[in-house]
Amino acid sequence: MRIYEEISKIRETVRAWKQDGLTIGFVPTMGYLHEGHKSLIDTARRENDRVVVSIFVNPMQFGPSEDFASYPRDLEQDAGLCEDAGVDVIFHPTAEEMYTDGFCSYVDMNGLTTELCGKSRPTHFRGVQTVVLKLFNIVTPDRAYFGQKDAQQLAVIKRMVTDLNVGTEIVGCPIIREKDGLAKSSRNTYLNEEERKAALILHKSLEVGKALLESGETDAAAVKAAITAELETEPLAKIDYVDVVDFDTVTPVEKTEGPVLVAIAVYIGKTRLIDNFITCNAL
Ligand code: PAF
Repeated sequence: MRIYEEISKIRETVRAWKQDGLTIGFVPTMGYLHEGHKSLIDTARRENDRVVVSIFVNPMQFGPSEDFASYPRDLEQDAGLCEDAGVDVIFHPTAEEMYTDGFCSYVDMNGLTTELCGKSRPTHFRGVQTVVLKLFNIVTPDRAYFGQKDAQQLAVIKRMVTDLNVGTEIVGCPIIREKDGLAKSSRNTYLNEEERKAALILHKSLEVGKALLESGETDAAAVKAAITAELETEPLAKIDYVDVVDFDTVTPVEKTEGPVLVAIAVYIGKTRLIDNFITCNAL
């Protein structure tokens, strides 16, 4: 496995692979890799001849009061996981390599980014889309793998590649959870023992919503109310949003007909966690 910081090096490698007719699977990450990332890498490994993982904590997708500086980083541990998982190349650029002096071009969207995380993180998706398109232009993958845990991000990236005619297939992969139900996330590392226990309320509340839907409820407001009530039983939890939206367009629905995304964002102490489920297999 090789680790490249320079765009020119990864381009050279990719060019050689393409000349040999090899397919490339790509897993973009911000590092501090866990089982969730590993499942994306494993899927990419199965479906492609070569696998590239990018590790880049992208400053552009963090708001001014967010956790860019404290976001966990451990390249050595990440490299070990990638090596064991059969990754061919880690692309680990510096911010200067990605955003050269005078950088002023962005990718933005009129829909899909205004609800859910877009409400409390208004510039987040612009940063995500911009860096992902840049990474796609550098790696030119046949397929790229994104987790359903960031369901809005997955919907946004799918829309972006359709709108901008990017020749990469976007593959959505299921949420990977801890044994007790907490969705795997690099940010779980911020939680102390008490908060870690409290964080279980996210999954528990979604299970309440899912059970209600399975019992035949179709009123989105009723589902939201049940999830909210469950979240409110946990004193350490502060709700950012509880929403029921169309999975493809990320617009609120009144009735839960068709594939809907039930998504929540909750602060446990200072840590903002997200989780969701989709009502039918819309990945
Ligand atoms: O999901 C993430 O880790 C990031 O948003 C991504 C897709 C790597 C872009 O920085």
